Amino acid sequence: MKAWLLDKLGSIENLRLADAPEPELHSGDVLLEVIYSALNPADRYLAEGAYPARPALPHILGRDGVGRVLAVGSGVSGWQLNDHALIIRGPVGVERAGTFAQRVAVPANCLAHVPGGWTLQQAACASLVYLTAWQALTQFGPVGRLVVLITGASGGVGVAATQLAAAMGHHVIALSRSPDKAAKLRQLGAAFTADPADPTWRKSVLTHLGSRRVDLAIDNIGGSGFSELLDVMGMWGKISVVGRLAGPVPQFNTASLFFRRLRIGGVAVGTYTAEEAQSAWRHVLETLAGGDHRPLIDSEFPFDQLPQAFAKLAAGPMGKVLLRVR
Ligand SMILES: NC(=O)c1ccc[n+]([C@@H]2O[C@H](COP(=O)([O-])OP(=O)(O)OC[C@H]3O[C@@H](n4cnc5c(N)ncnc54)[C@H](OP(=O)(O)O)[C@@H]3O)[C@@H](O)[C@H]2O)c1
Repeated sequence: MKAWLLDKLGSIENLRLADAPEPELHSGDVLLEVIYSALNPADRYLAEGAYPARPALPHILGRDGVGRVLAVGSGVSGWQLNDHALIIRGPVGVERAGTFAQRVAVPANCLAHVPGGWTLQQAACASLVYLTAWQALTQFGPVGRLVVLITGASGGVGVAATQLAAAMGHHVIALSRSPDKAAKLRQLGAAFTADPADPTWRKSVLTHLGSRRVDLAIDNIGGSGFSELLDVMGMWGKISVVGRLAGPVPQFNTASLFFRRLRIGGVAVGTYTAEEAQSAWRHVLETLAGGDHRPLIDSEFPFDQLPQAFAKLAAGPMGKVLLRVR
């Protein structure tokens, strides 16, 4: 089969499209013909060696995807030949071969059926970002209706968090550096948008909120903007730290946490067990159905244009970047 192979860690420029051995089907696995795959920044981090996983090389990246069942391993029930299946976050593309390939073997407990009314493209790109957004929204326990602020809101996780938070009844404030993407985020459910590159963004958020403050911030960006976030947080405010696209936080004063009893919590979708991920996925689907939301696709690239697809992801998408494999 054809696959994008990573021969050594260091850069996604080390990827090459080549012939690769067919996946081995172990007990408990299902073999998929990959139809669509989706990109995530973590694929790049893994290629750069900046991710904890150290898979055997050459490695095949790609955590998300949808495919057609070609074979079912021993001990697997619930899947038939030619069924369509989407991959829920697990070892695929991390510790074992991923979806930037024509075929992939997936543990059956990391598969789900394509939700009714969804296209295959929508199914291919959803699970990792919606599960991440779900963990970010729920990790501090059950809550009422909150003011939720989302940074990097136009990206994969940001769109998922915006849609889920709006469908959960939260008041969503979405940050984007692009006026066009901000307008789209308002259509997706954000009550207010602001540009984090505008030095007055905190003032405009506080003016919008009146006497209220942000209860939960979901931060996909890190960098110098992280400390700015704290200025709009309310008493007992919580911050779910998801990503750090702008790099490390250069300066942070721990005293900024004291007086409002702010809490910071890391998000790691990979810490969901297969059972927890399946349960969270069911909650995600119920929530999205309530808000009539669907995954948002930024762009789709043919299989031989994975480098161009990574360039599009790095440029800042509006939703998800897909790879058309079949
Ligand atoms: N912890 C976890 O379990 C987990 C899971 C999934 C993803 N992540 C991480 O979460 C982060 C977001 O992932 P994603 O898939 O949503 O990324 P993405 O699709 O690439 O989008 C991120 C968005 O952030 C904005 N952005 C990018 N670079 C920026 C910068 N330097 N400064 C300010 N804004 C910037 C852009 O929006 P605008 O152009 O509109 O401003 C972009 O559309 C990544 O770091 C990813 O690795 C973590």
